[in-house]
Amino acid sequence: MNTVFDINSLARENIRKLVPYMSARRLGGNGTLWLNANEYPVSPDFQLTENSLNRYPECQPAAVIQRYANYAGLQPEQVLVSRGADESIELLLRVFCEPGRDAMLFCPPTYGMYSVSAEAFGIEQKKIPVKADWQLDLAAIENNLERVKLIYICSPNNPTGNLVDPAALRKILDLARNRAIVAIDEAYIEFCPQQDTTRWLQNYPNLVILRTLSKAFALAGLRCGFTLASADIIKLMLKVIAPYPLATPVADIAAQALTETGIRTMRARVAENTDNRLYLQQELRKSALVETVYPSETNYILVKFTDAEKVFKSLWDQGIILRDQRKQPGLENCLRITIGSRDECEQLINAINELSNPSQQIKEI
Ligand SMILES: Cc1ncc(COP(=O)(O)O)c(C=O)c1O
Repeated sequence: MNTVFDINSLARENIRKLVPYMSARRLGGNGTLWLNANEYPVSPDFQLTENSLNRYPECQPAAVIQRYANYAGLQPEQVLVSRGADESIELLLRVFCEPGRDAMLFCPPTYGMYSVSAEAFGIEQKKIPVKADWQLDLAAIENNLERVKLIYICSPNNPTGNLVDPAALRKILDLARNRAIVAIDEAYIEFCPQQDTTRWLQNYPNLVILRTLSKAFALAGLRCGFTLASADIIKLMLKVIAPYPLATPVADIAAQALTETGIRTMRARVAENTDNRLYLQQELRKSALVETVYPSETNYILVKFTDAEKVFKSLWDQGIILRDQRKQPGLENCLRITIGSRDECEQLINAINELSNPSQQIKEI
């Protein structure tokens, strides 16, 4: 008799067990209002200028690297470009952590890919929850550094929206000196530019900074991110990166986004987004369904509802797609909302007000 061979039995054990990252796109939904992936609401308009698609692209396109170095105030040797910041998260694990021996550390609730990537590479994870005020638990981190080669800190943090205290960041960098890399994920730093840590690179050889064009640069579909670090760390990462990580059209558009005009446009976008955030926060605070609107330094806000499940599902059914955070530690009844255009913010407020408006319910009866 022919027994059916289960191909899964060939897969590595950690991959069989792995729960993949549920990106906003994978979660699906039938949306008219997409407020679940911290994207910019409108696509910027770029034209392709590079037509040599018969040739492989440069591994590290010189114009992109030079322009990002200028933007960040660093030398080109301190910059690596990759397929989004997500690729950089993986490259760091591959360079610094030996499966079965080394560990990585992060502080939940935070961005989900640190854990998923560690799991995929078979690297032990040390999860040190943040304190009630969402700041780092320095004592617990200090007590758990054994075998840790890589620490991810997200600041401002996704999904909570708060900045990590710079004094605490420095303390971690000191604790980890000569033993571990500290990767500060600054995916949202353009929304609070005064907090960027690039100047610290001269004092902390173990500091790595992750950046992206997906958020304030409005180019999530481009898949382009950056790593800022010492020239030595960048050289190590270049050993493991794919031969052609950036498609020619991606490099072409990234270079345009990083011109002076591109950067000015990005800053105007941030100003408009911040206005909309303040408006949305103020309106949500008036709603009977809202318990807490947390402060934010980003293009999204975390909101605690009296009944988050009801809000999430009702809005989902109307095509308004938010990000459910209720399963994250300490985030009961919390939903994350991306700041859209003013019109989108108004549509959201109207929909939430309708949910809590008793006269509407009476009419329906
Ligand atoms: C904190 C954080 N880091 C990294 C990323 C991934 O960025 P990229 O689109 O450049 O891969 C995201 C995307 O949502 C994020 O929120």
